[in-house]
Amino acid sequence: MYWTLAHRAQKMNPSVIREILKVTERPGIISFAGGLPSPKTFPVEVFAQACAKVLRDDGRSALQYAASEGLPALREQVAAMLPWPVDPAQVLITTGSQQGLDLVGKVLIDPGSRVLVETPTYLGALQAFAPMEPVVEGIASDEHGPDLHSLRHALGVDAEPGDAPQAPERRRLLQLDLDPAHDFPRFMYVLPNFQNPTGRSMSEQRRAALVHDVQRLGLPLVEDNPYGDLWFDVPPPAPLTARHPEGCVYLGSFSKVLAPGLRLGFVVAPPALYPKLLQAKQAADLHTPSFNQRVVSEVLKDDFLGRHVPTIRALYKAQRDAMLDALSQHMHGLDVHWNQPDGGMFLWARLPPGLNAIELLPHAVEKGVAFVPGAAFYADHADPRSLRLSFVTATAEQIQTGIAALAEVIRQHDGHSA
Ligand SMILES: Cc1ncc(COP(=O)(O)O)c(C=O)c1O
Repeated sequence: MYWTLAHRAQKMNPSVIREILKVTERPGIISFAGGLPSPKTFPVEVFAQACAKVLRDDGRSALQYAASEGLPALREQVAAMLPWPVDPAQVLITTGSQQGLDLVGKVLIDPGSRVLVETPTYLGALQAFAPMEPVVEGIASDEHGPDLHSLRHALGVDAEPGDAPQAPERRRLLQLDLDPAHDFPRFMYVLPNFQNPTGRSMSEQRRAALVHDVQRLGLPLVEDNPYGDLWFDVPPPAPLTARHPEGCVYLGSFSKVLAPGLRLGFVVAPPALYPKLLQAKQAADLHTPSFNQRVVSEVLKDDFLGRHVPTIRALYKAQRDAMLDALSQHMHGLDVHWNQPDGGMFLWARLPPGLNAIELLPHAVEKGVAFVPGAAFYADHADPRSLRLSFVTATAEQIQTGIAALAEVIRQHDGHSA
């Protein structure tokens, strides 16, 4: 008997990260590879109380099937949390924001559709879109986000900022465009806050210029913001969707501010798109677990996040500082560069010329330390010298030991070291 695989299944590949994680989960390895939040931040006791209350007060509804849109109370709470006026009717509760990416892919991508992404970008988004068989194009990016010249070039508009000609035929996209005959990109996927994998954020200037351009050109945006609340000193500028709600789909998540095991996220979609995302959601899993939705709705009462999130920020900031200190101390004399993220969970580093992060990884693991080679996060033209370091799960002591071990491996393999 033969199973004949669908074409789309052939587009599904094992995540390089998950394969690497298998190795790095071996006891004794100091892992900067994982993308997991620190379990220290999970408010276990608060959840114990909320679960008991939900079962006591409303147990039968909490264990029943429910509406695909999500629990009305939670949709209202989400709308009220967001920093621009959002009608709860535009909020779709999803099973993690990863499901939001899957739904967006299903609703907007045909085989061969062009999709634009930042360089580098979130691997999970590339995986979610891949089965729909898009042509994914990386837009060159710097430390402030996507480069607008490259974006305009990809759109076939080589004008200077602000000179982009009006494209009246694209304006239809703000409604539903049912004519896929042209090869204009379906959307650009953007991560303005403390991006996974680099930890970088889009500056206010870049946000304003990007929104200005996409509005004029009719390019829809899919904005993914799971890390926006995890800022260290100052909150990030307003989301792109806040500036242009009808042209953006916004994805949010409770994974990084409460707990990822809840699998609770949300999509805010313009009215033209919402019904299609809802239909895709219905087909995917009927609804996000009603019990989890009720528990989180209970937890969110009385501004719990207002008290809880500052404790995550303080912990992650101290962890970032521990990694920056360790890097300055141990990479001394090596041509290694790294950024200084203002929030989130990740830091991005670049090895000396001639070194390749994928080739270096097994040697690092031998010395007891792991990272994710940056190449995994590129749609095209990967930078082989880049790597992602998570600073949130290792202890300060492990960060010292792990970065020292990493520096030693780099020194051993670096023909140019001092
Ligand atoms: C940028 C980005 N988007 C989406 C997700 C998925 O998060 P969720 O747990 O809400 O599905 C992650 C998870 O790491 C992420 O980094």
